[in-house]
Amino acid sequence: MAKLWEGRFSKALDAAADSFNSSISFDSRMWKEDITGSIAHAKMLKACKIIPSEDAESIISGLKGIYSDLENGKLEIDPKSEDIHSFVEAELGNRIGTTAKFLHTARSRNDQVALDFRLYAKAQMKAVEGLLHGLIVSIVQKAKENTDTIMPGYTHLQRAQPVSYAQYLLAYANMFKRDLKRVQMAFDAADSCPLGAAALAGTTFPIDRQMTAKDLGFANICSNSMDAVSDRDFVADAMYALSMIQMHLSRMSEEIILHCSWEFSFITLDDSFSTGSSIMPQKKNPDIAELVRGKTGRVYGDLIGFLTVLKGLPLAYNKDMQEDKESFFDCLDTVKSSLAVFAPMIASITVNKDNMHHAASVGFINATDCADYLTGKGIPFREAYKITGQIVHWAIENGKTLETMTMDEYHTFSESFDKGIYDAVNLENCLCRRNSEGGTSPQSVKRQLEEFEFSY
Ligand code: ARG
Repeated sequence: MAKLWEGRFSKALDAAADSFNSSISFDSRMWKEDITGSIAHAKMLKACKIIPSEDAESIISGLKGIYSDLENGKLEIDPKSEDIHSFVEAELGNRIGTTAKFLHTARSRNDQVALDFRLYAKAQMKAVEGLLHGLIVSIVQKAKENTDTIMPGYTHLQRAQPVSYAQYLLAYANMFKRDLKRVQMAFDAADSCPLGAAALAGTTFPIDRQMTAKDLGFANICSNSMDAVSDRDFVADAMYALSMIQMHLSRMSEEIILHCSWEFSFITLDDSFSTGSSIMPQKKNPDIAELVRGKTGRVYGDLIGFLTVLKGLPLAYNKDMQEDKESFFDCLDTVKSSLAVFAPMIASITVNKDNMHHAASVGFINATDCADYLTGKGIPFREAYKITGQIVHWAIENGKTLETMTMDEYHTFSESFDKGIYDAVNLENCLCRRNSEGGTSPQSVKRQLEEFEFSY
């Protein structure tokens, strides 16, 4: 395959070096962006009278032909090309002859690749936004059905206080809502047009950068030519946003795995999101959640690997930067596929309300309410806390719960107890009374749900 730089060299590139140098196997996925960018560039060259109008027209219609032929499968990308930019340029030459050579006026592959990548990243951040929306909708729907479903809330993975399953789910919905914001910020970071930076220093031609930026839908232009061709912050921003999404998915996966274990049995995953064992007939495994958790490692690896590539790079473009794409694509594909499978998996969950309620009723998770009750009777909280601790200690040893202890038994710990204690430790009441803003009461959760309808 002829090289773009051929004139300067007297020898062809070594075969191993050629394949090592090539990026066509992975950057070909940016063909649409590459052609769209070139069309905008050619239009600008024409408008600024940098190349003859008929040549620009011929370039533009040639590029449009390549676009539609690739789209409908009439043309295949040549895997022997060095990269997608050289493939498109060579194909244009095959179609319109030497006129194709005008296209690269006032442009370099350095600003071209930065442009393609920004266009691609922007489109992908929109796609991720859509997937996040789908997931939030699926979580919020499940929450709506479970505002009265009591489960133990945990700290240190020890039963702590009663919460509703809706309250629990909305904690995750909030994480994904923040992720939406991070994805939008990553979109904004990519939303400046580098085209016209040329190799690194700008160009001697009277180009109109604002025109190409506007034509390609960018909010503004990169304001410094050297920064334009060496800036990959937008990629790191996108990968960080993606890593945060995957981290949240992984935390939720961990709990799905726990919750559908025999020990918890809080939820049942639908058969369509579970797998069996080749040897143990009783098994129903949460492989999808486990894989999402496992893939978090490679997503973080992509981010860290990429940051490490950037860390010692002098200005401006260096070939090291070609390494940006594989890590980004892998990170993106992994997170997108995780999101795509997660939303329907959440929707498929059956909530085992009785098991959740049972777990909530045997772990003394209403002990704080007992202490609060005594405090309401005028006993200082620290004292009330101590008395309640003694009660729990006694109840564990005597096989009782706060609900089943008799009034006489209560009185051995404090004369302040009256029948009101039974209302105070009733689980449903415990839930309803946590009506502070953002608390777990059904009323508060309904307020949270209403806010959710408007806020994302
Ligand atoms: N394939 C290259 C990349 O992905 C394109 C830019 C090449 N520029 C250069 N000066 N060699 O980064």
